[in-house]
Amino acid sequence: MKTLRTLTLAGSLSLLMLTPASVMSAAQDEPMFTPQQMTDWLHLVMSSDRTVYTRLIVNRLQNKEKVIKASEHFEDDKALVLPAQMFRFGAEMVGEATDDFSYSLLSEWPINKQNAPRTEVEKAGLAYIAANKGENYYATEELGGTTYFTAVYADIAVAPACVSCHNDHKDTPRTDFKLGDVMGGVVIRVPM
Ligand code: HEC
Repeated sequence: MKTLRTLTLAGSLSLLMLTPASVMSAAQDEPMFTPQQMTDWLHLVMSSDRTVYTRLIVNRLQNKEKVIKASEHFEDDKALVLPAQMFRFGAEMVGEATDDFSYSLLSEWPINKQNAPRTEVEKAGLAYIAANKGENYYATEELGGTTYFTAVYADIAVAPACVSCHNDHKDTPRTDFKLGDVMGGVVIRVPM
């Protein structure tokens, strides 16, 4: 199993330069960041990549230039992978490489029923981020005997392609998404 040693080291080094207190805890080899900082950083990378893929690849080539479509059946259709598939394939690779954290993309209005919230924290988190725009949701939960720090971040309609594809999809339970709406949430879990 791979660990987040590198991240711990990077965190220690940058904090070392800040305060004597952080030097002390660096010397004691204590974790140099909280689970929340870790999930916030992970989410920043995920959401940035997701936005870039959607805006610069899918929205530009499908919606603006009309060169190529994005499709669930991207192999048969010789099309682009959907942003949600791009995200899931990454999450699956991470799952093969480490148990230190895991993540998924869920929604209260899922096209794919597999992406509906299951745990109480997922349900509460998705409801919270939809009702409190701009805020994240953090909780701990126990699943299968392990305690997790679980963070839920809003997944926003950042491009017209998000809205048009979901509203027009045959399996969508919701057809009134607008640009800027919360469409679901990214759930990141870290075992404590
Ligand atoms: C070309 C169509 C298309 C585009 C563009 C698209 N989606 Fe999706 N999205 C889907 C499909 C289809 C699924 C279900 C994929 C699966 O099988 O898991 C999905 C899944 C999701 C999910 C998980 C819940 C669900 O509906 O199953 C969220 C949240 C989501 N998309 C938000 C977005 C956002 C935000 C954007 C823009 C950044 C976006 N989508 C762009 C088609 C699209």
